[in-house]
Amino acid sequence: MPGPSLLDRRLLIVTGKGGVGKSTISAALALLAARRGKRVLVCEVNAQERIAPLLGAPPTGSVIREARPGISTVVVNPHDSMREYGLMVLKFRTIYEAVFENRVVRYFLKVIPSLAELVMLGKILHEVRARDAGRPRWDLVILDAPATGHAVQLLRVPAALLDTVPAGPLRADAQWMQGLLVDPRATALSIVTLPEEMPVNEAIELDTQVRGVLGIARGALFVNAMPERRFEPAERELLLGLQGEPAPLGPAAWAAVLQSRRAEQAERYLGRARAALDLPTHVVPLLPAEEWGPAAVEDVAALLGEEI
Ligand SMILES: Nc1ncnc2c1ncn2[C@@H]1O[C@H](COP(=O)(O)OP(=O)(O)OP(=O)(O)O)[C@@H](O)[C@H]1O
Ligand SMILES: [Mg+2]
Repeated sequence: MPGPSLLDRRLLIVTGKGGVGKSTISAALALLAARRGKRVLVCEVNAQERIAPLLGAPPTGSVIREARPGISTVVVNPHDSMREYGLMVLKFRTIYEAVFENRVVRYFLKVIPSLAELVMLGKILHEVRARDAGRPRWDLVILDAPATGHAVQLLRVPAALLDTVPAGPLRADAQWMQGLLVDPRATALSIVTLPEEMPVNEAIELDTQVRGVLGIARGALFVNAMPERRFEPAERELLLGLQGEPAPLGPAAWAAVLQSRRAEQAERYLGRARAALDLPTHVVPLLPAEEWGPAAVEDVAALLGEEI
């Protein structure tokens, strides 16, 4: 059964190989949702902050702040999440400080890696279900997740805890978190890739894990930075013949041949991704932005807005 449309979920997870455009797509989706009247929160995980600058706002760090009307952003890191989680459980700052700022406890937090993930994911999912004055605090939370392997590690934590932890508060937390992640009406995971060999391989592998170990509903596939096909095969033959001409014609013809080969390869990888993943697919062109920033994200949002 198909779920609700992408922007009508409560939590949209965006992941894929490093550098493929996850933050760009996350920011563009946030713009689209906000334009449709939704109150949006975009979370980045333990990252060099990208989202606020891509939306034309100064960095916000680990404090939730409005980047533009309707869109807030935050960077979630283990240290601050642990502090918030500790305060939520222990209620009093002085007790928290006595326990969590303790050197021995800090050591344990470091050596139990999934604890860092648990508290970060917990903070994000807490925002998804938070309510103020009887209505959800956010209509949509977008998680600009880490790259593939780290994202799977992060999203697996509740299920892993349910396998190992006995009844108690930690288990109860893992339970509601997992319930939210695998609820197809609430949550969907989208994959971003480039139309290139390694990113597409990684996207296919990731999709297997999403369907298998993670069990999270799949949203859409975004094929980003697609080069435009500019020349027909006959034209390419002509260009090949011009290679030996003096500059600038010869070098320009050669550059055009390379561009045309690249576009052709990209089409093959796009085809491969479509065939292997069988997901609603959105193709975002390679844009000639000199500096990657808010204007480029606006362009991406405008293009996606026609399809989403
Ligand atoms: N459609 C596009 N056209 C041209 N360049 C693009 C496009 N999308 C992204 N880029 C380039 O790729 C860079 C990386 O994009 P982005 O930061 O969104 O990727 P990411 O997947 O979030 O990276 P990371 O894994 O580091 O978080 C951008 O700074 C920009 O230079
Ligand atoms: Mg990013």
